[in-house]
Amino acid sequence: MVEVIRLGGPLGAEVRGIDPAQALSAADLAKIEEAFLENLVLVFRGAPMSARQLSNFSQNFGELQPHIAKRYQHPEVPEVVINTNQDAQGNYDKLGAERGVGWHSDLPYDQVPARATLLHAVKVPSHGGNTAFANMYMAYETMPAALKNKIEGRYALFCLGGRNRLTQGILEDPTKVPHAIHPVIRVHPETGRKSVYVNPYHTHSIIGMPRAQSDELLDEVYAWCGRPQFQWEQEWRVADTIIWENRSAWHTGKMDYPQHEPRLFLRTTVRGTPTMPPEQLKELFASVSMAASAI
Ligand SMILES: [Fe+2]
Repeated sequence: MVEVIRLGGPLGAEVRGIDPAQALSAADLAKIEEAFLENLVLVFRGAPMSARQLSNFSQNFGELQPHIAKRYQHPEVPEVVINTNQDAQGNYDKLGAERGVGWHSDLPYDQVPARATLLHAVKVPSHGGNTAFANMYMAYETMPAALKNKIEGRYALFCLGGRNRLTQGILEDPTKVPHAIHPVIRVHPETGRKSVYVNPYHTHSIIGMPRAQSDELLDEVYAWCGRPQFQWEQEWRVADTIIWENRSAWHTGKMDYPQHEPRLFLRTTVRGTPTMPPEQLKELFASVSMAASAI
């Protein structure tokens, strides 16, 4: 029997009464899907899973999308990414540890960005290292009208690492930075609700604006969206699994844990849907060929 307990913040609920390592009934899955759309982040506690079991559980939520960076791929289950702060010799891996630190959603540099991401805790530090989430429906709905008006109907260019090139080093070929165009305000394909879709980590610029003006406007949007009242944090325990929304929520890792302690997670990403029709995309890309070549 699925039980959904809201965690009291602007998003987030714990799901009890199912074992994510086992096959789910259609009725239980429907309840979990409903809770997912309503709460944006779901937590399942105390169920250790192998990479294969996480992949199986994740496929309840859609087709899995392997990550573009091969170096973190699980050797036997390629659709699973290993998120760790240690290299194969057990030394601190700065690049691995700092991946995903900074507010973002997953895969917006893909023209079909992720629907959801699942993260399963294998090793957690003694303290710190939470994953924080922010509700972008709420950020949009409470945004002052003057700011809303500046971004309504606009589109943005996204690339891996965004305007600050935050992910240098993870690509096999750094000259091929993946990029995409999406609306600044996105209409959720399942709930129909609007949310802020640009994010500080992967958004490059707003289309049709000089770069300085785009930077200034994005800073204003991020200052609003970064307000604490939209946020909630997951305090990890070993064997926790989380599924989160990538269309209406931001998330970030936190570096406030003892770096010599191992932190190891398994991750999967569920493929989403396009954010606009192909003809519109083609037109927008034609208008930004200059900007795209400057990424
Ligand atoms: Fe992420």
